[in-house]
Amino acid sequence: CNFLCEKSRREVCDTLLNGLSRLEYRGYDSAGFSVDGDNEDIIIMKQVGKVAALRKLVDEQPVDFAKPFISQCGMAHTRWATHGQPSQINSHPQRSDENIEFAVVHNGIITNYKEIKLLLEKKGYVFESDTDTECVAKLTKYVFDSHNKDMSFLELVKAVVKELEGSYAFIFKSTYFPNEIVATRRGSPLLIGVKTAKKLKVDFVDVEFGGHKDAVGTDSSFAPVEGQDMSRPALNRSQSRAFLSEDGMPQPIEYFLASDASAIVEHTKRVLYMEDDDIAHIADGELHIHRVRRSKEDNTPATRSIQTLEIELAEIMKGSFDHFMQKEIYEQPESVVNTMRGRVNFENHEVTLGGLRGFTHIIRRARRIIFIACGTSYHSCLATRSLFEELNQIGTQAELASDFLDRGSPIFRDDVCVFVSQSGETADTILAMRYCLERGALCVGVTNTVGSSISRETHCGVHINAGPEIGVASTKAYTSQYIALIMMALQLAEDTTSTQKRREEIIDSLYRLPGHIKEVLAIDNNLQKLALETLSEEKSLLILGRGYQNATCLEGALKIKEISYIHSEGILAGELKHGPLALIDEFMPVILIMTQDSLYPKVQSALQQVAARKGTPIIICNSGDQNLVGQFKTIEVPKTSDCLQGLVNIIPLQLLSYHLAIIKGVDVDFPRNLAKSVTVE
Ligand code: G6P
Repeated sequence: CNFLCEKSRREVCDTLLNGLSRLEYRGYDSAGFSVDGDNEDIIIMKQVGKVAALRKLVDEQPVDFAKPFISQCGMAHTRWATHGQPSQINSHPQRSDENIEFAVVHNGIITNYKEIKLLLEKKGYVFESDTDTECVAKLTKYVFDSHNKDMSFLELVKAVVKELEGSYAFIFKSTYFPNEIVATRRGSPLLIGVKTAKKLKVDFVDVEFGGHKDAVGTDSSFAPVEGQDMSRPALNRSQSRAFLSEDGMPQPIEYFLASDASAIVEHTKRVLYMEDDDIAHIADGELHIHRVRRSKEDNTPATRSIQTLEIELAEIMKGSFDHFMQKEIYEQPESVVNTMRGRVNFENHEVTLGGLRGFTHIIRRARRIIFIACGTSYHSCLATRSLFEELNQIGTQAELASDFLDRGSPIFRDDVCVFVSQSGETADTILAMRYCLERGALCVGVTNTVGSSISRETHCGVHINAGPEIGVASTKAYTSQYIALIMMALQLAEDTTSTQKRREEIIDSLYRLPGHIKEVLAIDNNLQKLALETLSEEKSLLILGRGYQNATCLEGALKIKEISYIHSEGILAGELKHGPLALIDEFMPVILIMTQDSLYPKVQSALQQVAARKGTPIIICNSGDQNLVGQFKTIEVPKTSDCLQGLVNIIPLQLLSYHLAIIKGVDVDFPRNLAKSVTVE
């Protein structure tokens, strides 16, 4: 953050550390920050482990942290190790040298760092960490020294990033440029929040393209001028002063740079999303955005509008729940409604997804629909693809983004590729999206994060509107993604009379869905008991089902393994006899999903196969199922339309995984080794 107002160093630290706390949900192993020192120097503090440990370190400092400054900047970072193990030395900020002439925080991976390191080592630089980021800090010093220190901070960073390959969002700080911050991105997210004391009259953001400046950018909430174009005459310096109050006087102003809006939403809701190769330069209360020109044909739009965020701080707080995951499981009766709000007309049985307006006819003509995603998002694709095939008669496949890329799968102009991602920032999914964009396919985004890379770079899409999801184990985003995809399948089929009855039946079931989810949440105590008495001591757990429930099995098993660390496997019941049956005996815990749909008789035979090997499965079945209740250990759930049953059946598995994690003492919201948003390949 950068402040042009009176703040003590202590306040700056608090702001930085609070920001890091808001990002804790993404998963990390160490944290650090840097602020201005007293003697035009930079102070860096880092710590392995939680942000709380870093806060403790700050509290122990003898330095006078209470002294007020007029203008200053600080930066902070949580690290999830990619190059080099988690350690204090590998945490960020990374420094150029012992005097900290330059300090850098970085999100992403620099793929040519070895070459840079080798070159710098030959020039006498000695590296202290194993990180790729340290190369960037040292390269910055090297470039600056090579130009006899005769460069602006902006020119310097431009020159440095031109040497880098890979993905990054960077923030740079330097003792040569006190009170200045330079930030840039390529492939990793970065946004700028702007906070001023007064209502603004006019906002200007300068974007410099190859030497000449054009005034661009408007504030959507004030919008005096809509998206001015490059031909607008350049502003002179005094006009381009970034923010003026109504009386024309500069106002106290604070800028916040972050990879995720939740880090800054408590300070401001007015944000500007940076594009790849944008360089933001903040100094003396002014923000200027420039471009790193990599080619003459840089067609990136010359406007960066300031948007108003819709998330509330309260939405990302835990409220009365013990954990974010628990809160998010319990939010599902409302979050599913939010996904459907304004889109499903239950009376007329119509679905209207505004984000697909103008594209539905292209999607209907697609040769194939290809879902591409990772983790839980992939499971939402698996859960819904058969409805796409049934209603639209278009071959529909679901791909794991990493595997799709590994195979270099062929993609054609008449393919429609749907990228499903809660964060909209998962590196594998983004790379797959760019791969498909390059090959001319229509790219559709389904994401929970407005302004994310996937929401910006796809041709059209659907925001799932589940609200911020903090728990690393995805729950409410899964059910909302699932519904968003169901809505998409319904909308695409709206003109086919042959499917009308089926669509009406599904829409009626969508109407009843929040009530059904509430019914399952009401049996939470039984599930807690089951976790404690039956499953908590187990080392392994199999979850069997077929058809629509295959996705539920995989997602349930993922939930259990990621937060309770119990090995768990989702198995397609049809495959039982082809291998997994060998695992079944009286000791192997099995959960069988056996709700009533057309495959019920086939799942019954899976039950017999398990029972014949003395297996005693716990069965998720529809309430009052005469064949099962009373004879087996059952979890009863309300019956809904077959293609929506997975939305109801996943709830007891989410709750079971939560209770197992609690019993085992796992930090539910931050399971070991996992990150909420995996922005590296
Ligand atoms: C990480 C998270 C998972 C998530 C996956 C995909 O692995 O831990 O919960 O499902 O990324 O994330 P996305 O944001 O693309 O849905």
